[in-house]
Amino acid sequence: MASLMSFYLYTLLTISLSFNLIYAKQNFVIINQVPNHGGGIKFEKVIGGIAYTRPLMAKINQYIWNVIFKQTNPADRKAVDTVELFIKDYDGAEGVTWGNNKINVSAIYLNEYRGPMTLKWEFTSLMYHEMTHVFQWNGEGKCPVGLVEGIADYTILRANYYPPGFAPKGRGLRWDEGYDITARFLEYCDGLVPEFTSKLNNMMRRTYDVSFFQQLTGKPVDVLWQEYKAKNPYTPPPAGV
Ligand SMILES: *[C@@H]1O[C@H](CO)[C@@H](O)[C@H](O)[C@H]1NC(C)=O
Ligand SMILES: [Zn+2]
Repeated sequence: MASLMSFYLYTLLTISLSFNLIYAKQNFVIINQVPNHGGGIKFEKVIGGIAYTRPLMAKINQYIWNVIFKQTNPADRKAVDTVELFIKDYDGAEGVTWGNNKINVSAIYLNEYRGPMTLKWEFTSLMYHEMTHVFQWNGEGKCPVGLVEGIADYTILRANYYPPGFAPKGRGLRWDEGYDITARFLEYCDGLVPEFTSKLNNMMRRTYDVSFFQQLTGKPVDVLWQEYKAKNPYTPPPAGV
């Protein structure tokens, strides 16, 4: 009887373990540390608080895996099953990703944002950027910061959550200038090699080398940048307009 019982338990355990492996559930922990701060109040009342943010984070997580990095095989993904978000009172960048799976968003920033978009739109865009940092590979720290930030902004470009001030094609001085400048360059590389950016990300799992650009496109990154600039002449708007 006892052995039959343990057989059942064993079977049950095996089934539930395999189920968890295949249908790993992602967790999103959202903590508003400053519910009485102007920014904390706006997080609840204007953005929609946890009720808006939890499904948003789940959606962005899937978007990054499926669309941005094409990691349909879980073995290719960064092993992160929980993302934690803190709304916090600190002066500095609007958002910062740290410690592998944590994001701080500035309550001061939320309180003072007076941008061209709504606060909810701006917060959503910020979450696309920061969550990319959670799930991207960075060559175990060897990837230049400009490329890391460029890939995070590439996500907001692809997701159509880029603000009106986002760089148009062709702007910038260097391919690794970062943010929107680098995002536009990655978009250009996608046009040369299908899914270039997801391939580049997946190559950066254990290390990074600038030759990855050449491995993927057949051309060194400096040649790619020159050709990109030549094909996308950028004229800054006249001063004072
Ligand atoms: C984010 O907030 C946490 C908790 O409030 C703090 O311990 C951590 O240092 C912050 N991280 C960064 C990078 O500022
Ligand atoms: Zn960033």
